[in-house]
This record gives sequence, C-alpha cells and structure tokens, in this order.
Amino acid sequence: MHEWIWKMSPILCPTPPLRIGIAGLGRLGRRHAENLAYRIRNTRLVWACSPIASELDDARSQLGIEHVTSDFDRMVHAPDVDAIVLVTPTALHAQQTIAALEAGKHVFVEKPLALEVADCERVEAVAAQHPDRVAMVGFVRRFDASYRRAYDHIRQGAIGQPFLVRSQTCDMNDPSGFFVRYAAQSGGIFMDCSVHDIDLARWILGNPRALRAYASGTIAIHTGLAAHADVDNGLAIVDFEGGGRAVFYASRTFAHGHETQTEIMGSAGKLLIGHGAERDRLVTSDCHGVRHASTSDFFERFSDAFLNEMDAFVSACRGESALNLSLSDATEATRIGQAITRSLRSGQVEIF
Ligand SMILES: NC(=O)c1ccc[n+]([C@@H]2O[C@H](COP(=O)([O-])OP(=O)(O)OC[C@H]3O[C@@H](n4cnc5c(N)ncnc54)[C@H](O)[C@@H]3O)[C@@H](O)[C@H]2O)c1
Repeated sequence: MHEWIWKMSPILCPTPPLRIGIAGLGRLGRRHAENLAYRIRNTRLVWACSPIASELDDARSQLGIEHVTSDFDRMVHAPDVDAIVLVTPTALHAQQTIAALEAGKHVFVEKPLALEVADCERVEAVAAQHPDRVAMVGFVRRFDASYRRAYDHIRQGAIGQPFLVRSQTCDMNDPSGFFVRYAAQSGGIFMDCSVHDIDLARWILGNPRALRAYASGTIAIHTGLAAHADVDNGLAIVDFEGGGRAVFYASRTFAHGHETQTEIMGSAGKLLIGHGAERDRLVTSDCHGVRHASTSDFFERFSDAFLNEMDAFVSACRGESALNLSLSDATEATRIGQAITRSLRSGQVEIF
C-alpha cells in the first residue's frame, strides 16, 4: 500500500498519530524531517525549530509543518507535541534532551548523546526520573538490515565466539573545506564518525567494559584540522574485558565514495559487512576492467536504516515495541570516543 495512504487514513490508522517537533533542519535534520513528514507511519510532524529563518520557511512551505519557531523552549513546552527529535549540534544534545524529558516529551537525539561523559550521565539521571518517556540515541547502524542480520547470526552461534571487531567509517573527500568547518562542533573524527563503530563493537561483543585504548592519526589533506586538534585519518585500538578487541578506522579523504565496513572475527568464522562500498548490484565489465559504482555518502548507505530507526522510535513511544539500545550504551560510546580522542592528542595509552 502507498505510504501516503497509510499516513493519512484514519480507518487504517485508528490510534492518534504521534505528534512530533523537530529541532535542527541542517544536513541530517532536513532528512529526518522529510522522513517524518512523508514516510514514517503514525506520526505528524507538527513543529520545527531552528535559529535559521530560511530553514523554517522551507519547513513550512516544503514540508507543510504547521508551527515553526526559533525558540526551542516554546516548541518543547507546546501542548500539542508528544515527542521531540533533536538533530542539533552535538554540544546542545544533553541540555535539549533534559529539557524535553522534563517537559514530559519522548526524545530522539542524534549521536553522540554528548561530548562529555558527565553530560551523558546527567541525561541518564533525568531519564531515570521519567521512566515512562522514551529517550533514544540515533545509532543508526543498529537499524541497518545487514548489521542486524550479522548480529542475529552471531547470537545464533554462526561464527562461534566473536572476539575482534574491525570497523571503519570513511567519508568521501570534500574539497570544499566542509570537514574543517564541521570539526569546530563535531568533537573530532572519533566522536563524529567512530562513535558509530564503537557502539557496534560493544553491541556485537556483548557490551564488555573497555580497559585500555590507544589512538593515532594523520592529516593527509585537510591541514586546517590541526587548529581543532583533529585529523582526517584516525586509527584506534580498544581492549575490552574478557578478551574482546576492536580496531577503528575513520577517514575524511576517500577518493571513491563513502565506505562504512565492518569485519567481525569469531572463533569459528568471520562476517564482513559493507565490503567495497557497492552502490547497487550493477557491475560493469568492459575493456577497462570490472567495476561497480560506490555509495557517495552516509545518506545513501543508510537511507533505509534512518527510516527503520525512526519507525523503532515511534513504536517505542506508542508502547508497541522495546528498543534494542539504551542511554547507557550512548554514555559508554562517549566514554570510549573521548578516551581515544585524548590518546590521539597525547600519544599515550588511555586506561579506563
Ligand atoms: N547518524 C548519523 O549518521 C549522523 C550523520 C550526520 C550528523 N549526525 C548528527 O546530527 C547532528 C546534526 O548534524 P548536522 O550535520 O545535521 O549539523 P548541521 O550543522 O548541518 O545542522 C544543525 C542544525 O541545528 C540547528 N540549530 C543550531 N542551534 C539550534 C538550537 N539552539 N535550537 C534548534 N536548532 C538549532 C541549525 O540551524 C541546523 O539546522 C550532530 O549531532 C551530528 O553528530 C548524525
């Protein structure tokens, strides 16, 4: 059935839709807003908030959002909002999540939950006072079909005991200088990119405690990153309690496209997810050789997963299903992400 009919028909959708307010309509926020406006069932995107007037104009005219405001407090306290979706700069996540929970709203907040562990813990403490409210962090890979299948295979014993996760998040080079500008708010390449791989590694290895971490990196192209103590290619190793290990690689300089790839080694086999960054199933063989096109960015690679994660959030808010990730997972991802960021800057091993 057409998605639009599902969204609009009160007969097929008898319970009232979840009313959502979104904060942040930038690079990713605009995508989430489009999904919520047109593709996610049982929802109505009723409010949008951004300090940028053109984004609000666009929200009203292109997405048909009824109420737009630059005042986050106004949206968060609006009586016609059940849930808040935060796609704002990372530095705002903790305080905005707390404000939304205290206003009695469910919250979806983009990753990472915060750049500091103490801020994550503050959010956890407030969430504990509002156990009937959903608070979900957007670790989108948990909602990707291939990662989900890998996780299920592992739980069924397909590769024996998993002990090593080697995972990378590598973006296509952007010569416009975007990654240098973004470094001012992202918390660095590990907090921005590897935080996804960190969450995956913990999820796959059964949430072990991190013991030690070491990181290194280099600037291959974007020299402006030095001013932010950041790199455009970073590597990290994390030792976990019980023998599990993880190796993370993040890059901003790939020539061919976006390549998220994860390899999981187990005592009886291994799994590989995302090999070769194939855009689709088309392979061209001609006098130049055999080749396929690659995914250009994370939107393309994870477009279905972004829908699946928002569906999961809405279902959880409506009490229809439980989430497979918690705020404490997000706190641990920040703890490890911060440790490897410190190690990158100091050259020292970090002990947890
Ligand atoms: N899950 C993923 O794969 C993924 C990918 C990209 C970004 N992200 C995360 O999403 C978040 C946003 O990233 P982005 O790249 O879209 O950033 P962006 O800078 O493009 O957009 C940020 C938006 O927040 C708005 N904003 C700023 N201050 C605000 C305030 N006080 N109240 C309301 N809105 C405010 C800005 O106007 C803009 O619309 C970051 O935390 C980032 O880590 C996640």
